Amino acid sequence: MKPTKPLSLETEIVHGTHTVHTTSLDLVAPIHMTATYKFRSADHGAGIFDGTDEGFVYTRIGNPTVAQLQEKMAVLEGGEAAIATSSGMSAIAAVGLSLAKPGDNLVSSTTVYGGTFSLFNHHFRDLSIESRFIPPSDCCTAGQIEALIDEKTRFLYLETPANPTVDILDIRLWASVAQKKGIPLVVDNTFASPYLQRPLELGAEIVVHSATKYLGGHGDIIGGVIVGSAAMMDHIRQDYAHHYGPSMSPFNAWLFLRGIKTLALRMERHCDSALKIARWLEAHPKVDRVYYPGLDSHPGHAAAKAQMREFGGMIAFEVKGGLAAGKTIMNAVSLCILAVSLGDCETLIQHPASMTHAAYTAEERRAAGIGEGLIRLSVGLEDPDDIIADLEGALDLV
Ligand SMILES: Cc1ncc(COP(=O)(O)O)c(C=O)c1O
Repeated sequence: MKPTKPLSLETEIVHGTHTVHTTSLDLVAPIHMTATYKFRSADHGAGIFDGTDEGFVYTRIGNPTVAQLQEKMAVLEGGEAAIATSSGMSAIAAVGLSLAKPGDNLVSSTTVYGGTFSLFNHHFRDLSIESRFIPPSDCCTAGQIEALIDEKTRFLYLETPANPTVDILDIRLWASVAQKKGIPLVVDNTFASPYLQRPLELGAEIVVHSATKYLGGHGDIIGGVIVGSAAMMDHIRQDYAHHYGPSMSPFNAWLFLRGIKTLALRMERHCDSALKIARWLEAHPKVDRVYYPGLDSHPGHAAAKAQMREFGGMIAFEVKGGLAAGKTIMNAVSLCILAVSLGDCETLIQHPASMTHAAYTAEERRAAGIGEGLIRLSVGLEDPDDIIADLEGALDLV
């Protein structure tokens, strides 16, 4: 019997897709490790190629395990279709290069992942695609965004919560500008995951993910996902993905499907622990400033409440004594691991100015609100009291 009412997101996270690509009724779908697929006859092969028969041709174009992940992500983000890619960067590049061509431009928020900034600001520029950046959220208005849009603007792009400052951007505001101008809004939903935030419901047209982070959740795989309408996903496949080949491996897709099943539980724990640690940091006399959208002091607290279920597992903070003090902490912690990336079971600590956001010049970092002494913490699944004790020991040395 089919469920009579729509399933909750928590249930979809566990179940999510019901397409079975095997006859053996496995609970967990097998990994289809194959590069190519047999055709029953010449006519069958021709039918699959021209779309009159269903089936797979070649794993760069499609694979049953990858297809299952794509269906699941479409369900979780509330889109019609999805494309799984080899990394978050290949997902962002695929979206950008299928929407914008030489002579076109895009409008993006300034505070984004360093790799995204570098792709837009340097590599797209080499392809004659111009990137126009809007300063951080607390001074961003619809008029400011509109002022940068012209007839060659092909999409708007934002990240919220933003990497690394955990800035909150108002997705509805950006979506209203995008809709008025008739161009798509692309949202990087990596920091929130679909459990905390569903940009398509707020008016965005495309969602991208570094699935490497919370979707995988275990720090062992790299991958990306794009979600949107079936027509848009078809356009990205035909215009870019099939030719440039940023396909996800079936093995990684299988691990992502496995990781996603615990997404709700993990996100709850990340959020609870991050709030506790952020409050503790905010009260610490050696800490200058804490950036966490769950704190009343965060300028984006109200906007986060309006568009997120909870506030996520990412914290940024500045210590009195600037970069030198920050380095002391990063070298002194023992439980928090000094590493880039985020969304893993382990708490990770890093220095954006010299690591994830080294692609910005010092001037560009200033414009994006990324302080030279800023430390970023990806709160893991440990007992938060142990993380607090670790940070406390390190702060004692400052
Ligand atoms: C917000 C955000 N988007 C995209 C990326 C790029 O993803 P990947 O490393 O999977 O290519 C990252 C990587 O850290 C990120 O933090």
